[in-house]
Amino acid sequence: MASAAPKKTLIGRMFARKSIAQVQQESASSELKRTLGKWNLLLLGVGCIIGAGIFVRTGSAAALHAGPAVLLSFVVAGIVCAFAGLCYAELSSTLPVSGSAYTYGYTTLGEFVAWIMGALLLLEYGLAASVVAVGWGGYVVSLLADFGLVIPPQFTGPAGYTLMKEGAPVLINGAEVVTLFNLPAFLICLALSVLLVVGVSESAKVNNAIVAIKVSVLVAFIVVGGLIVLSNFGDLVTRNWTPFIPENTGEGQFGVDGIMRAASIVFFAYIGFEAVSTAGQEAKDPKRDMPFGIIGSLIVCTVIYMLVAAIMTLLVPYAQLNVPDPVAVVVDNFGPTWSWLAKIIKIGAIIGLTSVVLVLMYAQTRIFYTMARDGLLPKVFATVHPRFKTPYINTILVGIITAIAAGFFDINVLGDMTSVGTLAAFAIVCLSVIYLRRSAPELPRGFKVPLYPILPIFGILSCLYLITTVPWNVLVFFIWYMLGMTALYFIYGMHNSELGKGHTVTADGEMPYFPEDNPDGGTVTRD
Ligand code: ALA
Repeated sequence: MASAAPKKTLIGRMFARKSIAQVQQESASSELKRTLGKWNLLLLGVGCIIGAGIFVRTGSAAALHAGPAVLLSFVVAGIVCAFAGLCYAELSSTLPVSGSAYTYGYTTLGEFVAWIMGALLLLEYGLAASVVAVGWGGYVVSLLADFGLVIPPQFTGPAGYTLMKEGAPVLINGAEVVTLFNLPAFLICLALSVLLVVGVSESAKVNNAIVAIKVSVLVAFIVVGGLIVLSNFGDLVTRNWTPFIPENTGEGQFGVDGIMRAASIVFFAYIGFEAVSTAGQEAKDPKRDMPFGIIGSLIVCTVIYMLVAAIMTLLVPYAQLNVPDPVAVVVDNFGPTWSWLAKIIKIGAIIGLTSVVLVLMYAQTRIFYTMARDGLLPKVFATVHPRFKTPYINTILVGIITAIAAGFFDINVLGDMTSVGTLAAFAIVCLSVIYLRRSAPELPRGFKVPLYPILPIFGILSCLYLITTVPWNVLVFFIWYMLGMTALYFIYGMHNSELGKGHTVTADGEMPYFPEDNPDGGTVTRD
């Protein structure tokens, strides 16, 4: 592949690439230990995947868009993710470096695409953290209410929304309640950013325990709910699954149209499988284990999601599922003998969602950190705390941004923005695979996408298609966001890029010049 020597023209600079040798050198000079085996990677994926998507968003996807056919939406979204997942697996086995899709973009399609990828990942990780925080808030409010503790309803939702319950406005003293601010969601983001500053995210053991808790909670739901369903299957199918695909009542509402709209919503539930690729530097055998972690976690989660969605829509009429805690509402329907299980499920969901917010925020801080080291963001994003050894200013900023988004915005808008940003990022990843196969066919690849180039092309087309199913106002907002970020590249990123200046950065903070710029091989230390 061509060297990443600085280019002088505008186009040359926009498409300047880090050489593969360079990212591999950055990777080799990393101080991280290779401790993660294939099962750790699979659990890392599952840990990031299962969250607000299944615990919260499935409810509104079924109630408002797909009915029982939300199961098919999971299949559609799962297939789209599988295309992208296979492409991630190939890239991660070819370029085992940290920084995820951002670094892949930098090495394949060049700096501008890497920057765009950074902007998309801010939606995929930063905004997703806000969505999950709102879901966390829903379960916390519900659990506290079980113990008689009521948070004033004005402080449990986004700014300026009428509080609804079971499809009708909530009335207090005869007046509708308009929410001002989501206090629990706001606070959890700030609290977790403090934990990240002091460096709690590093424990794989804690992550494994939390994954075990949230998977156990869902398995308990599937086993108990499944037994109840089987005892009365025919009746429940007649009552709640007939028709399985409700008739279309408007754009994106039921029918095939609604299934596709719901697919872009439940797509959120799969986000995170590619987080495995960010652990490239910590995998014992990245070539073999990364594809296993990515594809394996995707398969495990698809099976769990399909079973949970089937039980939910069989036991409760889908129209009643548009609530902040749909899984708990379904357990309430198991009957009074199971009321303890509802509380356990809420506690499990809260623990599980906490870990997802933490992992997403962590990923966001590390992407900002990498971008700052590359000069695309101000150096302050890479400033490491002298004692905690974490990028603390960056982490606090991520905490504030996610807290504001979670505190003031509607979960549906935030979720749609996250889905659109992630779908666009996945499309670029699929494109990168095609590009790299053509530009560097000689590179050793531990894993190759089968049926190339059909699957990457299907990946690109299916991601673009799902983007078109989200509401127009979200798309317009997304386009403005991307235009703003593009402008920022030309105003800031391009002029400060280390690659553009002909520098490269090693893990110990030194920036050796490219050999062709500095034949003596000297280095300069970052100021
Ligand atoms: N897939 C993650 C979730 O559902 C982001 O919360």
